[in-house]
Amino acid sequence: MPIITTIADLKRLHKRRTPKMFYDYAESGSWTEQTFRENTSDFDLIRLRQRIAVDMTNRTTQSQMIGQDVAMPVALAPVGLTGMQSADGEIKAAKAAEKFGVPFTLSTMSICSIEDVAENTTKPFWFQVYTLKDDDFMQRLFDRARAAGCSAIVITLDLQILGQRHKDLKNGLSAPPKFTAASMADLATKWGWGIEMLQTKRRFFGNIVGHAKGVSDPSSLSSWTAEAFDHALDWDRVAQLMKMWGGPVILKGILDADDARKAAALGADAIIVSNHGGRQLDGALSSIRALPAILDAVGDKVEVHFDSGIRSGQDVLKALALGAKGTYIGRAYVNGLGAMGEAGVTKALEVIHKELDTTMALCGRRDIRRVDRDILLIPKDFEGSWQ
Ligand SMILES: Cc1cc2nc3c(=O)[nH]c(=O)nc-3n(C[C@H](O)[C@H](O)[C@H](O)COP(=O)(O)O)c2cc1C
Repeated sequence: MPIITTIADLKRLHKRRTPKMFYDYAESGSWTEQTFRENTSDFDLIRLRQRIAVDMTNRTTQSQMIGQDVAMPVALAPVGLTGMQSADGEIKAAKAAEKFGVPFTLSTMSICSIEDVAENTTKPFWFQVYTLKDDDFMQRLFDRARAAGCSAIVITLDLQILGQRHKDLKNGLSAPPKFTAASMADLATKWGWGIEMLQTKRRFFGNIVGHAKGVSDPSSLSSWTAEAFDHALDWDRVAQLMKMWGGPVILKGILDADDARKAAALGADAIIVSNHGGRQLDGALSSIRALPAILDAVGDKVEVHFDSGIRSGQDVLKALALGAKGTYIGRAYVNGLGAMGEAGVTKALEVIHKELDTTMALCGRRDIRRVDRDILLIPKDFEGSWQ
């Protein structure tokens, strides 16, 4: 077993063990991938202030996200097709999150269903929905999430149409994979993945197939997806969806201060500053660059969370020190899952926790809830002078 010390180590193993179409699905951004790249490279522009001779005993990374206790303010982001990175992947990730004490967010586009995850975990998880036209289907999703004990809904607002990722088209991405000469040749080298996948019955979109009208078999799913997303989405519809759910709501995909003000005015419990991991609007600002202006606009009105580009505990610390109250990781835990299943997700969380704790200590701080911009060295024009 190789010694794993970083998320990059898990990424290498993920690439080796998982079919190319699913690895590429995770490790892609839209179009030129500029925003995808800058999500990580812009983190590197911010430096940390080394402080010495400061008592670093009794440190804590414990905090709260929307009033819920967390071992560290790092949740698992909603990620579609997770059950294709490793058999029963959503269940494995949810179990790892539960044991670690951080929130798990299940995507609508998951392989394991809401009920599958609820049956295999003991604590409430969060459920992410896209904004779909069909009210009956949305209401059923909310009812199922309520019955499963979900403690918050994440409404994703940055994907009414899909940002194109070239590799998905070239690889013929599908769940389960279609047997072509190229996919067969690739699968022949990923036999560990294949054996596990043959042992599970969960190989289709578990929240949709058999639940959405007219989608009783997976082959009818692509036409459903093309028609189901609500291109006419506006803030009134967001308010309507929040009312239909009637519980804690996190609005995801906010990258602009004006939008953040609108989301805060709706009374959301939190917003997530996110560009979908660089998978939607290519050319948009990196999430970490967009964060300060949004915090200035609404940081005192709504809990501000952050995702896109986190690959280390140092990244988490930078986002929190800027003022975010919580963060999410997407690819970082998917790399762990694809590398080593549940143990890999746990490893990803351990790596990030250790980096976060040690980095906080070396910045002279002991309590993650009290880190602030004083520990950061931020380049003068970090947010950019745009017109
Ligand atoms: C493979 C993949 C699938 C995703 N699927 C969803 C999804 O179904 N719903 C959603 O709201 N966000 C989805 N996202 C976006 C993540 O929730 C999150 O915003 C993003 O991964 C954060 O960036 P990071 O991967 O750099 O951490 C997905 C991201 C990836 C990488």
